[in-house]
Amino acid sequence: MNNFTWFIPTIVMFGKGTATKIGDQIAGIGAKKIMLIMGGQSVFKSGAYEQVAESLKRNKIEFIEMTGVKSNPRVEFVREAIARLAVTPVDVIVPVGGGSVYDTAKAIAAGAKYNGDIWDLVKGKASISKTLPVMGVVTASATSSEMNNIAVISNHETEEKLSFTSPLLYPRLSIIDPELQYTLPERQTVAGGIDAMAHVMERYFEGNEIPELLWDQHEVFLRSMLRCIPRLRANPRDYDARAEYAWTAALCHNGSLSCGLKNRGDFSSHKLGHALSLFYDTPHGDSLSIMMPAWIEYVSKFNPLPLERFTKNIMGLDELRSTFRSWGAPVTLREIKVPECDIERIVDNVAKLGPIGTFKILEREDIIEITKISW
Ligand code: NZQ
Ligand code: ZN
Repeated sequence: MNNFTWFIPTIVMFGKGTATKIGDQIAGIGAKKIMLIMGGQSVFKSGAYEQVAESLKRNKIEFIEMTGVKSNPRVEFVREAIARLAVTPVDVIVPVGGGSVYDTAKAIAAGAKYNGDIWDLVKGKASISKTLPVMGVVTASATSSEMNNIAVISNHETEEKLSFTSPLLYPRLSIIDPELQYTLPERQTVAGGIDAMAHVMERYFEGNEIPELLWDQHEVFLRSMLRCIPRLRANPRDYDARAEYAWTAALCHNGSLSCGLKNRGDFSSHKLGHALSLFYDTPHGDSLSIMMPAWIEYVSKFNPLPLERFTKNIMGLDELRSTFRSWGAPVTLREIKVPECDIERIVDNVAKLGPIGTFKILEREDIIEITKISW
């Protein structure tokens, strides 16, 4: 077990009806005015908007709204919100949505307190020294953004989809009401579940020196997702499956599964996947159902131990691919209509990050091989 430091300052309220309490929580820290951050129409379909707005009004909290966060969220939206806050300051940023909405809210919260362009903070050219509090409701569990200190933002001008972190990026409060996720399309339930599984696998395949406790913990969360996804495909309103899925997803990437690991995870599949989302707007989970098996296939040639254990305790790699496929998720670039001639462009985008990964350090030639496998 390697040394580690771990903390989570986020208050989590979980369960039926919890979103109706958000106004009380925000009023509890003395806030009077907030900015609501939302995506498209889903907040209305799920009932989340109604519950949050009613709770804010009951607590006499004034709110301004920014809607239209897109999946794989973009820096332009963040800049627009920060500009608005310069004219109309608020006390708290309130995301109501999935990981994209949460990540956007975190970037806005940091950017609003920084005297310069938000992209400096994403690129690490300047460090985050202050943020507005983020207190939100997650309506699509997957990323664990509701419980971690990470945000992922895309910049199409510079052709970058990058994650950035800071101890100040943890939300102050996150509300997880599984009933607000009944309206999630099957596609997103599958993509989000695969993302949560990938957060485990990035750690499972970090190297050979995984403490026994962590191997076991990882397998528990993988089994949980393998159990919940089929149940939710059969019945999207299965409360117990929604609840287990939501809590598992939150725990898969809140940092606890990194405690004791040598490198806190590998994350090569994610970096490969980000290039797909950047160029083709591929949903994050789909980028992983394609890239993760290809990456595992490649790196296991150099170090077979984690795949042997995975095969014995969970399933083989072929079965993993066929499971994803049976859920309707793509497992090759061809399925999402990426032409073979684009392989070079994808490789260039990932390779400009420098060598990536920990399990096997991946140079450009390795990235080419993995991308070819994924095609
Ligand atoms: O735009 P709306 O109408 O809200 O629809 C969304 C969107 O189409 C819909 N949705 C959300 N809640 C719903 C719902 N539809 C019906 N009912 C509901 N209750 O779901 C779609 C996808 O939403 P999105 O937020 O994009 O999905 P996800 O949560 O998978 O987030 C993906 C983003 O998070 C980043 C990804 O790279 C990607 O940009 N990640 C963030 C991480 C983090 N902060 O720690 C780590 C991850 O590895 C990941 O990289
Ligand atoms: Zn992910």
